[in-house]
Amino acid sequence: MNGAVERNPDHWVDLARDRISLDGKPITTKRGIYILLYKPKGYLTTYRDPEHRPTVYDLVEDLGAWLAPVGRLDLDTSGLLLMTNDTAFADHVASPAHLVSKTYQAKAATLLSDEQIELLRRGVQLSDGPTRPAEVRRLRDGPKHTFIEIVLTEGRNRQVRRMIEAAGSRVLKLVRTSIGPIRIGDLAVGKWRRLTEEEIAALGGRARPPGRPTSNTSAAKSAASTRFRARKTGCGSKS
Ligand code: URA
Repeated sequence: MNGAVERNPDHWVDLARDRISLDGKPITTKRGIYILLYKPKGYLTTYRDPEHRPTVYDLVEDLGAWLAPVGRLDLDTSGLLLMTNDTAFADHVASPAHLVSKTYQAKAATLLSDEQIELLRRGVQLSDGPTRPAEVRRLRDGPKHTFIEIVLTEGRNRQVRRMIEAAGSRVLKLVRTSIGPIRIGDLAVGKWRRLTEEEIAALGGRARPPGRPTSNTSAAKSAASTRFRARKTGCGSKS
């Protein structure tokens, strides 16, 4: 470290200032990679499935880094999924503390009354506790189904499905249409694009250039244990 051998494994380093080498080679962080995937229904948000079902990694080509999904979407949910190698950014976007909103459109199995929609707005009791108040908007009623838009600031497992069940109906179709200010726009289903620096900033992050670490050693260790390798498939849009 800084030209001398450091033997104490508990020694704290300042990655922004200290020069660190391993076996004579300088250690730098990789450039931050931030992509937005329009996940289709039927794809798992996981790296490998024992049942060999398609996963989001089948849709993203090898960008030379291990990308991890930010949160997850159910197998039957489609819509926006962020993937990145920047764990600090991922933690920021996923943490309920930072209130990065996620917007969903859902088709209910029944017509929903104003009272049911109000219940969803106020919050329902789930097995893991009450949900936060949410913005809920009736988009339209079909003959047998209500379509709603719901904006959440927390991301619990199967939250929208469980909320609608708690309100006495069921989800037939679910799409995540926005993450914070980022919308689907003209991104086609199954395709991905890189986030712009403005979009990264709007989500509360800062694009990480190569060799300019943003995390401390413990964060880097947790990053190493949670990273996944993006597989090469050639399906994505290059930008
Ligand atoms: N809520 C759900 O129920 N499922 C998802 O995939 C995302 C949010």
